[in-house]
Amino acid sequence: MFRTHNCGALRIEDVGKEVTLCGWVQKVRDKGGMVWIDLRDRYGVTQLILEESKSDPSLLDQAKKLGREYVIKAEGQVVERLSKNENIATGHIEIAASKLEVLNTARVPPFIIEDETDGGEDLRMKYRYLDLRRNVVRRNLILRHQVSQATRKYLDQQGFIEVETPVLIKSTPEGARDFVVPSRMNPGEFYALPQSPQTFKQLLMVSGFDRYYQIVKCFRDEDLRADRQPEFTQIDCEMSFVTRDDILKTFEGLTRQLFREVIDTELGEFPLMSYQQAMERFGTDKPDLRFEIPIHHIASVAQGKGFNVFDQAETVLAIAVPGAAEYSRKQIDELTEWVKRPQIGAKGMVYVKCLEDNQYKSSVDKFYNQQDLGSWAEALGAATGDLILVLSGPREKTLKAMGELRLEMGRRLQLLDSSQFCPLWVVDFPLLEWDEETQRYHAMHHPFTSPNQADLELLDKDPGAVRANAYDLVINGVEVGGGSIRIHDGEMQQRMFRLLGFTEEEAKAQFGFLMQAFEYGAPPHGGIAYGFDRLCALLGGSDSIRDYIAFPKNNAGRDVMIDSPSSISAEQMEELNLRIVGVKE
Ligand code: AMO
Repeated sequence: MFRTHNCGALRIEDVGKEVTLCGWVQKVRDKGGMVWIDLRDRYGVTQLILEESKSDPSLLDQAKKLGREYVIKAEGQVVERLSKNENIATGHIEIAASKLEVLNTARVPPFIIEDETDGGEDLRMKYRYLDLRRNVVRRNLILRHQVSQATRKYLDQQGFIEVETPVLIKSTPEGARDFVVPSRMNPGEFYALPQSPQTFKQLLMVSGFDRYYQIVKCFRDEDLRADRQPEFTQIDCEMSFVTRDDILKTFEGLTRQLFREVIDTELGEFPLMSYQQAMERFGTDKPDLRFEIPIHHIASVAQGKGFNVFDQAETVLAIAVPGAAEYSRKQIDELTEWVKRPQIGAKGMVYVKCLEDNQYKSSVDKFYNQQDLGSWAEALGAATGDLILVLSGPREKTLKAMGELRLEMGRRLQLLDSSQFCPLWVVDFPLLEWDEETQRYHAMHHPFTSPNQADLELLDKDPGAVRANAYDLVINGVEVGGGSIRIHDGEMQQRMFRLLGFTEEEAKAQFGFLMQAFEYGAPPHGGIAYGFDRLCALLGGSDSIRDYIAFPKNNAGRDVMIDSPSSISAEQMEELNLRIVGVKE
């Protein structure tokens, strides 16, 4: 046997046992006559001890020469520690080592491999395999494993069948750019990597699988952020003969089960909120409901008093921030600068402090008297001590800016508790979005999403007003998943392609296989996909999905460890029928 125990296993009950451990040397503390070694593996850290009075001098010497991250095997007896460490599970014992064997030496690592490290992000990514030795990072991947196990268990219990779909396919329209792969055997032709398995899961419904799922890699060539990677993972699902509410119920069930099993948390209600309501009250289609502070529309009380900025604005929006009336001039100025940043884009900000005895102090006292300001406070339900913040301007832009300001105030007032979870379903999204640049409609979700039956007659008259039978699962302001009831009627699907500006030939070339399949008995169906990395980050209490991906890419889409993407040889290019133009030397 190579080892008798791992480095996290031994306890006070094991005192007296002869054991063999293997692992990496995290630290050697040499106090002359005594040497301690922290030995680490995936399971924990165990302390080895060597004493001059008890050990062979050559053994002590050997211990002193061990370098950081050497791989060793140690034999010895479990003894009770004199000074106990309550911070680690093995902290009551240590191993009085009688034999050490170096299994492999190691170069000095480029950063300290402990919870607190001196390595910056770039360095840790370059040596990600060393970063993964750190407890904090490994713990995230173990959580990811637990989430995938619990997902499979739940979906299996619900009768879902896991089916793998191909990775070398053709374009799937999820709204991002495709990654493409040249085909050697078909000169001049390319595969596209799936942005999602959307069309395949619909075909599986035509095949009669009834309930499909897959934990699957998806690829999207888009700008990257903390919650976006070029390759990411979905929990992708599809069901036949279901209504929207059947799907919401099944996946509320999955979500509850995951939170229960993985982080021992019981989720509250999953309220339904329409897209329109979400935008009007929270300025976003993914509201963070961990704190109140809804947006109020106050044009009716704020306009018509001679303040041009408001009078000429399409909308005047306000929030009442509890307890912030004591904000100093400097704090308010700083907040005003914050909303004026290009990312937020507000032109300016008006404030009203709600003071004792229904007194108000505002930045627009010249235009509004105490009674006017009182009517704002009343419209907002603001109380003494609140700070009212007002933005005005074009409707959509101002709603978005106010949504951001609301979140920022939540952050500043520390209302965003990462151990609290507020799920909701956002429903009734618009089916189509008008794109100014191309002067045509785009599918807000994807072109296979069914319009809301009640809005069918608007499809020709006023396409922009048609609601989709689509839904997003939002938790704490994160879009965890999205899906829809699909179009299962060939004719309706063709009508949709026409609306989206596809000619018949284009639609046939890109989606002919799907439309043909619909001619052979497509059942009514619908589904959803969760962003698996996002879900893991949420469960782990982090904003960055990178922490939950073993080998992530940086914001430029590069893997700095393997140095990819990289150029390929001239021979490879030729074989693939690619012209050698613009290839990096
Ligand atoms: P959608 O495009 O909304 O829907 O994607 C589903 C979920 O995947 C996550 N996600 C991402 N996560 C990390 N990095 C990315 N680049 C990224 N892009 C998306 C989000 C999102 O909610 N086929 C449909 C689903 C369906 O209709 O069933 C689809 O892919 O959490």
